[in-house]
Amino acid sequence: MSEKPAILELKNVNKSFGPIDVLHNISLQIRQGEVLCLLGDNGAGKSTLIKVLSGVHKPTSGEILMDGKAVSFGRPGAAQERGIATVHQFGGTFPLMSIGRSFFVGLEPTKGWGPFKIYDRKRANEIAVKAVRDFGITRIDDGDRLVGGLSGGERQSLAIARAVHFGARVLILDEPTAALGVKQAAHVLRIVNEAKRRGLAVVFITHQVMHAMAVGDHFAVLIRGAIAADFRKREKTREEITDLMAGGETMADLEAEIEHELHA
Ligand SMILES: Nc1ncnc2c1ncn2[C@@H]1O[C@H](COP(=O)(O)OP(=O)(O)OP(=O)(O)O)[C@@H](O)[C@H]1O
Ligand SMILES: [Mg+2]
Repeated sequence: MSEKPAILELKNVNKSFGPIDVLHNISLQIRQGEVLCLLGDNGAGKSTLIKVLSGVHKPTSGEILMDGKAVSFGRPGAAQERGIATVHQFGGTFPLMSIGRSFFVGLEPTKGWGPFKIYDRKRANEIAVKAVRDFGITRIDDGDRLVGGLSGGERQSLAIARAVHFGARVLILDEPTAALGVKQAAHVLRIVNEAKRRGLAVVFITHQVMHAMAVGDHFAVLIRGAIAADFRKREKTREEITDLMAGGETMADLEAEIEHELHA
């Protein structure tokens, strides 16, 4: 099978906060047109890892390569300018803004959107609504609606559509489905697949193995800040992935243990 080119790569990355070592020797490749699922339990280091990828944290040692060349993101904006978009839980958009306004916020001058220097509400709304509808979110048809009035899934979708519209090459999603019901999560997963189809490299963080399996091409399991497993689609079963996420213990053993505690 031919491997797609890596847009972003981590090589032997370590991250410590003072005496606390959080990430240990992480090497990962994030490829064009693929979804990399980052799995792991609470506190495993997933958010810290994506903060290194998105320029919020500088690695203590190791390298970040973009298109094969070493890069250093001095500030969060630097990664964004290179096309690395991060969408946090709840979409990271602005609840009191209209859909149209939030779509362009912060991006008007740098992308040379001349007309938006003087905010053109009608045109901004048209572009935002079209971008979102192109992703199959047909329930959003009025750019004047406030972001705060959208459902969690719609907000995630809006944030993803926005990143793609402005030319993101790497999309980092920190638990986009964690707070969503089944239907909304399915919708966000469909949008993740659409972003991938458009050639973006996606990093998808989740605790839910089923969500990971629905979109993932490549999986990395973090345990206590180190990569405990790194595998591709269909190389492991759902049960095996669940066991890995539970720290290498089999869930059957855990269940027996809990049973024992309950009856002790
Ligand atoms: N700025 C910091 N200073 C000190 N320790 C930190 C800092 N940021 C994170 N940590 C520690 O690093 C570890 C990993 O945290 P991180 O937020 O990356 O985990 P996570 O895998 O995203 O967990 P969750 O699933 O709960 O979101 C934790 O033990 C956390 O306390
Ligand atoms: Mg986290």
